Amino acid sequence: MENITLNLDGSFISKQEMENIKSEIIAAHELLLNREGVSSDMTGWIDYVDRIGDEYEEIMSAKEYIKDKCEAFIVLGIGGSYLGAKAAIEAIRGDFHNEIEKPAVYFAGQNLSGSYLKKLKEVVSNKEICLIVISKSGTTIETALSFRVLKELMEEKYMDESKKRIFVVTDKNRGALKKISDLNGYKTFVIPDDIGGRYSVITPVGLLPMAFANLNVQEFLNGLKSGAEEYKNSCFDENICCQYAAARNILNRRGKEVEILVNYEPSCISIAEWWKQLFGESEGKEGKGLFPASLNFTTDLHSMGQFVQEGRKIIFETTLNIENRRDDMVVPFDDRDFDGLNYISGKPFSYINQKAFEGTFMAHSEGEVPGIIINVPEMNEYYLGKIFYFFMMSCAISGYTNNIDPFTQPGVEHYKKNMFSLLGKR
Ligand code: PA5
Repeated sequence: MENITLNLDGSFISKQEMENIKSEIIAAHELLLNREGVSSDMTGWIDYVDRIGDEYEEIMSAKEYIKDKCEAFIVLGIGGSYLGAKAAIEAIRGDFHNEIEKPAVYFAGQNLSGSYLKKLKEVVSNKEICLIVISKSGTTIETALSFRVLKELMEEKYMDESKKRIFVVTDKNRGALKKISDLNGYKTFVIPDDIGGRYSVITPVGLLPMAFANLNVQEFLNGLKSGAEEYKNSCFDENICCQYAAARNILNRRGKEVEILVNYEPSCISIAEWWKQLFGESEGKEGKGLFPASLNFTTDLHSMGQFVQEGRKIIFETTLNIENRRDDMVVPFDDRDFDGLNYISGKPFSYINQKAFEGTFMAHSEGEVPGIIINVPEMNEYYLGKIFYFFMMSCAISGYTNNIDPFTQPGVEHYKKNMFSLLGKR
């Protein structure tokens, strides 16, 4: 089977620079795997795939239960409690998936917009629906408020049966959501204590929505397993997580402040959203960290491409290159050739998109923007599991190398304190 590969040829990083940082990276990797670094009690994601046990069967039987009962389901959650599932479902089911596939998938609890919730209610009110409510703390206001509204809708629509249509993913013992679930007898799934939000896509947080959306969860787990096996290798030259973490840190130390994750498939936009949270929350602390941004090409070449090419030299670009694209189309031949494009008629769009990538990469390189390429053989559940694992492992190594705790998010509390006080919370 082909593997995910890393290409640093356009990164402007010398062999010597790589040599110089190697020992730091290997030390960080070792700290992580030996569970000796800071917050080592939050590294349960490293081997969760081998410990999943009964949760897998329970996820499958919940999926079986809803199969004929639900035309749409809503995932309620924010941050790490929804981004991974959204990324996976969109990447695998592809563009316009809600119009093409059943059940449709909607997201809520990730904002405080009344307008969003009102419209969502209108969209689902005539459909057979289920809810998946996800919150590790069980107290997150965005998710809790949306749940209030949607729980009411469920109770009006289904009365007692609503209890069987609401699924909860939360802490084993703590939090308001756990209490409500126990009281109402909702089917609950556990987010383990030793896995934080942004590393939790590999637990029922990601797996349950993926299963409901008919993704192949077993293949996703196989991808995770393969990542766990491959990336525990402590040989720097054989471990692409170590090399990616090294490249990011070298470029950061050289004054690059922004890493842009680029992709050429619109269905992968949410992978970048998940990646931004992973790296932003993990590394952005103590005045440190690269600012993680994302661009979707070629769309954004017609907007932000100008800045990347000729703006401040604070950026490097990491491209997620999906090598074999599915559902391709061929450019039709036009007798009159008004647009002068017959020279590429008969070519697949994927070929043209690939040339756009190669041309962009060259242009940005000429504009002195370092480029890293992550080649993913194809977008399926297996490679998705593996790429998620790749990024999580790289992020943790990168954080340890930079001497920060990649498993906390103290800064997130600040806005909450102000908001609650402005709301008059006692
Ligand atoms: O990464 C994190 O820990 C956060 O982004 C959380 O996932 C997010 O704040 C949601 O928290 P909770 O699952 O407790 O509702």
